[in-house]
Amino acid sequence: MPVRIAPSILSADFAAFGAECEAVVAAGADWVHVDVMDGHFVPNITFGPQLVRAIRPHVSVVLDVHLMIAPVDPYVAAFADAGADIIQAHVEAGPHLHRTLQAIRAAGCKAGVALNPATPVEAVAHVLDLIEVVNVMTVNPGFGGQAFLASMLPKIAALRTMIGDRDVRLQCDGGATVATAPQMVAAGADVLVAGSAVFSGGSPDAPSTYGANITALREAAGAA
Ligand code: DX5
Ligand code: ZN
Repeated sequence: MPVRIAPSILSADFAAFGAECEAVVAAGADWVHVDVMDGHFVPNITFGPQLVRAIRPHVSVVLDVHLMIAPVDPYVAAFADAGADIIQAHVEAGPHLHRTLQAIRAAGCKAGVALNPATPVEAVAHVLDLIEVVNVMTVNPGFGGQAFLASMLPKIAALRTMIGDRDVRLQCDGGATVATAPQMVAAGADVLVAGSAVFSGGSPDAPSTYGANITALREAAGAA
């Protein structure tokens, strides 16, 4: 399975989301990752469904919406209507994950589940047939630019075994760099979220940096 690079717009210029999305897609991004934060489930606030609606016309690839919010269910329809392709809910966001994933699929989106670093893989054992993406947080959620938690590598490998031959993407989220990408892929990841590693040093006016950053990540991952 080829490794997909999913730039996170959390590290983009917040005054230029449309142009930033167009630039990273043109630079080779496979997905665009949108980090929604509510200031309750995580200690940061970012954006909501209106941002997804605004960038949708500028994203011709998979729009992967990572909900770091609790509760999730009241907002599923709004993110689906705004144009999300994938909606990820956190295992830890509430007591009824199975119902939440059913609601995401009923809204016409692909369902994903995200696990915080302390959450064991067993938490998703009974929903693997409801999802298309499982996201292993390789940092504590809330901010970009954090250091990769190498202690997550055995967890990634265990999840890869659990997934078996299901058509489920294994996403790593947080701290992806040319140094950590090979480790993530060797452990079993096939989608790498990257915010600071893609956006640092570039701008919509100078998108070539984005292309070089994405290519460097893809090549590093391919060397795994
Ligand atoms: C953190 C987010 C990540 C983050 C990745 O809560 O879920 O997607 O934006 O940023 P980097 O790649 O800079 O660690
Ligand atoms: Zn994320």
